[in-house]
Amino acid sequence: MTQRIAVVTGASGGLGETMCKAMVDQGHKVAGSYLPGTDTDAKEWQQAMQAAGYEVAIYPLDVTDYDNCCSFIAAVEKELGSIDVLVNNAGITRDAPLKRMQPQQWQDVLRTNLDSMYNMCQPVFDAMCSRGFGRIVNISSLNGEQGQFGQANYSAAKAGIYGFTKAIAKEGARKGVTVNAVSPGFINTPMVRQIPENVLESIVAGIPVGRLGQPEEIARAVAFLTAEEAGYITGTNLSVNGGEYMS
Ligand code: CAA
Repeated sequence: MTQRIAVVTGASGGLGETMCKAMVDQGHKVAGSYLPGTDTDAKEWQQAMQAAGYEVAIYPLDVTDYDNCCSFIAAVEKELGSIDVLVNNAGITRDAPLKRMQPQQWQDVLRTNLDSMYNMCQPVFDAMCSRGFGRIVNISSLNGEQGQFGQANYSAAKAGIYGFTKAIAKEGARKGVTVNAVSPGFINTPMVRQIPENVLESIVAGIPVGRLGQPEEIARAVAFLTAEEAGYITGTNLSVNGGEYMS
């Protein structure tokens, strides 16, 4: 197993934690990011991970800020080495029906969920190409594929990820750099548990598999796409949604 340097943004969140574990299980050195201002929670999370046998270097990072992404990447590369694997996982929701959606809700979601893709990929991409190896996985969503009531902002950002992913997949294809998207459906995470109970019940009723997904089921897809052997898979989207949307 070749040891790689892997970065997961939004590391301590519902999906990020299992992605970090999957990267460590693949033998990689792993760096994760957390939201600035949540240092105490992040340190506790890191200690709990350590106690469970998972070593993850963590750094505060605002993925909406290009300069901050550049300094985060420089810090990881100084401490761990050149980044080979990047999982763009950090994301937020600010749900509201369009008639009540405020400009701030639109901007926050677009900046966090879509601008972040450019902010993180641009500073690492050329170096990955020069070294002849890279694995980038951008976390999109079922709701970017099918649209969702109350998520005009989120669905737009997550759909935008597909175009971005395909474009840079073409740029990296001859250089050993693969770029793919993973689109989780409704997964048992704090983000999904925030949905009003009656709404969530009707969502689960519409999932063919008949249950919410587990974070490990997303991490497994990410691990598959970041593997050394996944070099012929690029520019694609892997939907992990219990059959809710079949493209
Ligand atoms: N389809 C059609 N109509 C719907 C609807 C739906 N899915 N959801 C609500 N409505 C209707 C309601 O029945 C209601 O109709 P009436 O006015 O005729 O009674 C109307 O829309 C307004 O609904 P609410 O009163 O519930 O409006 P609200 O402002 O209180 O809440 C909302 C709106 C915030 C969008 C709320 O419905 C909600 O939270 N929905 C869930 C959104 C969602 O799925 N978010 C996913 C988060 S998880 C995630 O994003 C992870 C991932 O990647 C999958």
